[in-house]
Amino acid sequence: MTWWREGVLYQIYPRSFADSNGDGIGDLGGVVEKLDYLEWLGVDGIWLNPINPSPNIDWGYDVSDYTGVHPDLGTLDDLDRLVADAARRNVRVLLDLVPNHTSDRHLWFRERPDLYVWQDEIPNNWLAAFGGGPAWTLDDERGRYYLHNFARAQPDLDWWNPDVRDEFDRILRFWFDRGVAGFRIDVAHALIHDRRLRDDVIDVEAREGAHRIHSMNQPEAHDILKRWRALAETYEPPRILVGEAYVLDLEGWAKFYGSGDDELNLAFNFALVHEPLSARPMRTIVANTERLLPAAAWPCWTGSNHDVGRFMSRWCDGDDALARCVLLILLGLRGTPFLYYGDELALPDGGVPTDRLRDVAEPSRDPGRTPMPWTPGDGGWRDPWLPLEDTSRNVEEQRADPDSTLNFTRELIALRRASPDLRLGAYEELPSPKDVWIWRRGERTVVAVNLGRGAAKLDVEGRPLLTTGGEFDGTLNPACGLLLAVD
Ligand code: GLC
Ligand code: CA
Repeated sequence: MTWWREGVLYQIYPRSFADSNGDGIGDLGGVVEKLDYLEWLGVDGIWLNPINPSPNIDWGYDVSDYTGVHPDLGTLDDLDRLVADAARRNVRVLLDLVPNHTSDRHLWFRERPDLYVWQDEIPNNWLAAFGGGPAWTLDDERGRYYLHNFARAQPDLDWWNPDVRDEFDRILRFWFDRGVAGFRIDVAHALIHDRRLRDDVIDVEAREGAHRIHSMNQPEAHDILKRWRALAETYEPPRILVGEAYVLDLEGWAKFYGSGDDELNLAFNFALVHEPLSARPMRTIVANTERLLPAAAWPCWTGSNHDVGRFMSRWCDGDDALARCVLLILLGLRGTPFLYYGDELALPDGGVPTDRLRDVAEPSRDPGRTPMPWTPGDGGWRDPWLPLEDTSRNVEEQRADPDSTLNFTRELIALRRASPDLRLGAYEELPSPKDVWIWRRGERTVVAVNLGRGAAKLDVEGRPLLTTGGEFDGTLNPACGLLLAVD
């Protein structure tokens, strides 16, 4: 079994998952304590957002030491313990690699300025993704401008410099040697900039990031990813690369798989994330994904993350029935699903009062990063770094309730694990009434969800394996979905 194709992955925002020492900050010890829970839920791997030392301008995405662990989160020993304890439960650990930029407090920024991008004058119209304004800032000490595609405190590395490539080979090996199963690659599409520093085409109408045609989205990013894939394949078992290739045009996105087995193993499909929860547009994204991916490549689905927030808020407006439909979609499509911590509870974005917002970006991403509610009441947290205002959906109570979304998710994961059709079967769209989406997986499994407002008659004969709620009598009510075994 190729674990990363057949398994279910689970994203953990370490500061907000579980706090083992009561200082209000989630940590690696907390993840270790929750491995029993993750094993019970049935996940095959976890991806941790950055755990490296960082001044936390962008909560770990401004790395000041690539081979260390942030003291708030624990130590290297804690990481080793996590990898070992997880392995005993057949859970793999993926880390987050942030190769486009470092923190401005990384020693390199003072001691190895050649690893960054410098100009005497602002050379073009490139804009920083955070903070507004140019992507170039004057460094007082050097009297020159450095490039930062994100915040000022995140200077871009110069990927045209072979020394940068060598440094990152060492960083990859450092973690792969410790048994880390792979990396999620931060802004994989941004890795390298146009060598001639040509202007971006500023088009405010363009879909997210699409206008960054020279500051990012360069074909040479693929060479770097291919080099890492080759390095990852020298390990046994091969380590994997999961890319945040934030490209909404699916043709461009599919290129991140190379010829299917020589670049990213998986690339998050953000085109789906940006569609409304509606059968027609979603079916179209999936059909195009299936058409455009190289034969050897494997899709990758998600509904929530630490940037886009939680699908319960974006897609379901707090409706648990719809949230179960989303889970059925994510786990029922062909491809690897990533759940974001709390998705299994149908957790919505949390409330964060303005004076407690801590994100560098606007609008703030903090509502999608609030602490995991483990129990009713305080949620199992003392004075957490982001507020936890609502614990009405929590692990303890949902675990005890056989009809909860948590138990639905667990059952769905178990069915998927037991079913070669659901793990590996081909995707085939079936004729569907308006607002309904029905597809076959492999030989004998059918998934159907009704995302509309009217009841729909299903003319698929079969035995229900799981419904999002209640008995199935041939009619699929609004916000209902099911898995069927057909002959
Ligand atoms: C990615 C991360 C995001 C971060 C940005 C800059 O998009 O997911 O959280 O702010 O890169 O590193
Ligand atoms: Ca802690």
